[in-house]
Amino acid sequence: MQVIGTPQEFTDKILCVAPMMAWTDRHCRTFHRLIAPHAWLYTEMVVADAICFGRAHRLLEHGEHERPVVQQLGGNDPYLLSQASLVAEKNGFDAINLNVGCPSDRVHQGAFGACLMLQPKLVAECIKRMCDTVSIPVTVKCRLGVDDHASYGKLAEFVGYVSEAGARLFVVHARKAILTGLSPAQNRAIPPLDYDQVEQLKADFPSLAIILNGGLNDTQKVKQVLEWADGVMIGRAAYQNPGFLRELDLTLYPEKQLDNFQSLLNQYMAYMESELDQGVRLHEMTRHLFGLFHGLPGARQYRRYLSEYALLKGAGIDTFIRACAKVDRRAA
Ligand SMILES: Cc1cc2nc3c(=O)[nH]c(=O)nc-3n(C[C@H](O)[C@H](O)[C@H](O)COP(=O)(O)O)c2cc1C
Repeated sequence: MQVIGTPQEFTDKILCVAPMMAWTDRHCRTFHRLIAPHAWLYTEMVVADAICFGRAHRLLEHGEHERPVVQQLGGNDPYLLSQASLVAEKNGFDAINLNVGCPSDRVHQGAFGACLMLQPKLVAECIKRMCDTVSIPVTVKCRLGVDDHASYGKLAEFVGYVSEAGARLFVVHARKAILTGLSPAQNRAIPPLDYDQVEQLKADFPSLAIILNGGLNDTQKVKQVLEWADGVMIGRAAYQNPGFLRELDLTLYPEKQLDNFQSLLNQYMAYMESELDQGVRLHEMTRHLFGLFHGLPGARQYRRYLSEYALLKGAGIDTFIRACAKVDRRAA
């Protein structure tokens, strides 16, 4: 019998950092790439229309060093989604992910995001058009269901239609979305998590890659999930506690030794300096580092110092170094 948790067991599993609006921008992804060299990084959701009719280059801005990186798209129009996918492919993204999970009012009013779970045939049409247009993988991120239409049967029906149209990887946020009366943040906390339905999905669709998302915040839990799932997607816990993300990457892929913490920090500081030279404000980068010293003495003073000084005009790398000096890292 194979012992659960031996290193080799996880090397073919997929670790993803979730798409998070206003959080996983290119500075955040650069940081995550350093601490989790094996993770698939997802962009924030970009609406297909904005890519087709707006400043696509700016919206799709990313660096080669971020790869593998997945562009998440929002929308419900097969043609626009296919054209936006093409632009993303040409811009060097490794995969496309269609958002079928966002419950926000704005997205709901636009008739995309989570409410598309009620329209599996339309989603299938979108996916087919996207798959016919690009050669990179087209994947889906969905919920268990929406409102009163959240049964396992409906979920399986959705995955059935959409996989036949060409999607081979599904990220499932293991709770339903409630489209009226809850904010997006409440929709990430109030509907209960149900991993069993996702496990059943993997059993019923063994040839699809099924990635579990939602509430994963400790390594032991992740290891248990990876006994049946093809991968995990981590959102808030990765952002708020980068040490957890680093530990996961090390646990799942121990064959590659990571640079030590100080060396990673030095590399990110070099990145910040080059971005500062190009006119990026310090705060735009340091705002993603608030969880850097999670749990260490002085972490609060570090955050307070950054909140106060990194926003100031002309704040440079010395501001960040002074903030770091507030932390007692001997306890790390
Ligand atoms: C600030 C924030 C922004 C988010 N933006 C997106 C988004 O753009 N697209 C998306 O599919 N999910 C978005 N999500 C949901 C996450 O991708 C993820 O599904 C959710 O947080 C559950 O995972 P977790 O429990 O590991 O955080 C967002 C979550 C947060 C906290």
